[in-house]
Amino acid sequence: MSILVAGGAGYIGSHTSVELLNAGYDLVIVDNYCNSSPLVLDRIKTITGKDFKFYECNICNREGMRKIFQQEKIDAVIHFAGLKAVGESCVKPLEYYENNVWGSVALLEVMKEFGCKKIVFSSSATVYGSENKAPFVETMPVGTATNPYGTTKIYIENILQDLYKSDNEWSISLLRYFNPIGAHPSGLIGENPNGIPNNLMPYVSQVAVGKLACLSVNGNDYPTPDGTGVRDYIHVVDLALGHIKAVQRVLKKTGVDIYNLGTGKGYSVLEVVETFKRVNGVDVPYKIAPRRPGDIATCYANADKAYKELGWKAERNLEDMCRDTWNWQKKNPNGYEQ
Ligand code: NAD
Ligand code: UD1
Repeated sequence: MSILVAGGAGYIGSHTSVELLNAGYDLVIVDNYCNSSPLVLDRIKTITGKDFKFYECNICNREGMRKIFQQEKIDAVIHFAGLKAVGESCVKPLEYYENNVWGSVALLEVMKEFGCKKIVFSSSATVYGSENKAPFVETMPVGTATNPYGTTKIYIENILQDLYKSDNEWSISLLRYFNPIGAHPSGLIGENPNGIPNNLMPYVSQVAVGKLACLSVNGNDYPTPDGTGVRDYIHVVDLALGHIKAVQRVLKKTGVDIYNLGTGKGYSVLEVVETFKRVNGVDVPYKIAPRRPGDIATCYANADKAYKELGWKAERNLEDMCRDTWNWQKKNPNGYEQ
C-alpha cells in the first residue's frame, strides 16, 4: 500500500513517516519546506534503513499535485501540510486561509480526479473552543476558535464532512491532536520551531540548553490544582502510531470518523517544568507572567473512542516525553541548522 504524506518533512509528519516505513508501507512525501528542512529526509532514511519517494511541491499547486498522482499510485493520503503558528495566524489570516483551507481544497480536488478518496487529516483539540469543558469528547459540538489558525481547522473539518455527504465513497479520518511533544528516541528528528517558540515544551528545552534565559509561566491564577494551565501532552511517537491505525481504518471502510488523540491525562505547566528538570538533571529558570490571551484553563481528551475503534492508546508518559525532547535538543541545539 502506498501512502502520500503531505507535510511529511514536518514535525509530526516526519515521525509518522518513520512509523509508516517501519510498518511496511510505501511512502510518497510531498512538502514545500515552508516550515521544514530537506535534512529531515536523510534522517528518516537513517532511522528506518528504508527509502521513499519525495516531491517538493506546494499542495495549493494543482498542476504539480496532478503530476505526482500521475506518476505514483496512491492508496491514501495523510494530510499534515498546514501553517500552525497561532500568533502568526492573527497577523496574517489570509495566508492561513489560503494555505490551509485552499490548500486542502486543492489537494482534495486532485485526489478526487484520480479516484483516491481516502484521507487522514490533522485536526486539533482547538476545535472544541472555550465553550466545552474538559474532558473533551468527539460527540461535543465544535466550539468557536479564538484565532484564524483554529478557524482553518474547523473549516477543513466541515469541508471534509460535506465532501462525504456528497459522495459516500470517501473514507475520512479527522484526528484531533492534543499537545504533541517529545521526539524520536534516536534524537535524529524532533520539533524545530522557527524563531522564539510559542509552545511550552520547545520553550522549556531552549531555556534548558541556554538559548533562552527564562520561561514565562503564563498565569498562576487558573482554577487548576496549582493555578497554571493544564494540557494533555502526548508523545509524538504515540501520535504517529495513531496515524497508522487511522490509515488502516480509512483503507478498510468508508465514512467520516473523528478521533481524539491524547492521553486522557492533564498536566500543569509547573508539573511539566518540574518533570523536565528531574528526569534530565537540568535547571529551567522560570517566572510567573500574566495569562496569555486566548488560553483556556484546562484541556484534556477523553481518548476512549480511539481505543475502542482503532485499538490505539498512548503508551509513553510525561517522563518519556521530557527525556526524548531533551535528547533531541541536546543533540541538535540549532534544530536542523548545522
Ligand atoms: P510542521 O510545520 O512541523 O509540519 C507541517 C509541514 O507541512 C511542514 O514540513 C511544512 O513545510 C509543510 N507545509 C505547510 N504548508 C504546505 C503546503 N501548502 N504545501 C506543502 N507543504 C506544506 O507542523 P506539525 O507540528 O508537524 O503539524 C502538522 C499538522 O498537524 C498541521 O496541520 C498542524 O496544524 C496540525 N497540528 C499540530 C499540532 C502541534 O502542536 N504540532 C497540534 C494540532 C494540530
Ligand atoms: C497552542 C495553541 C493551539 C494549538 C497548540 C498546538 C494557543 C492559544 N493555542 O495550544 O491552538 O493547537 O498550541 O500547536 O496558542 N505556556 C506558558 N509559557 C509559555 C508557553 C506556554 O506558560 O512560554 C503555557 C500555556 O499558557 C498553556 C500551556 O503552557 O497553559 C501549553 O501551551 P502551548 O504549548 O502553547 O499549547 P496550547 O496553548 O495548549
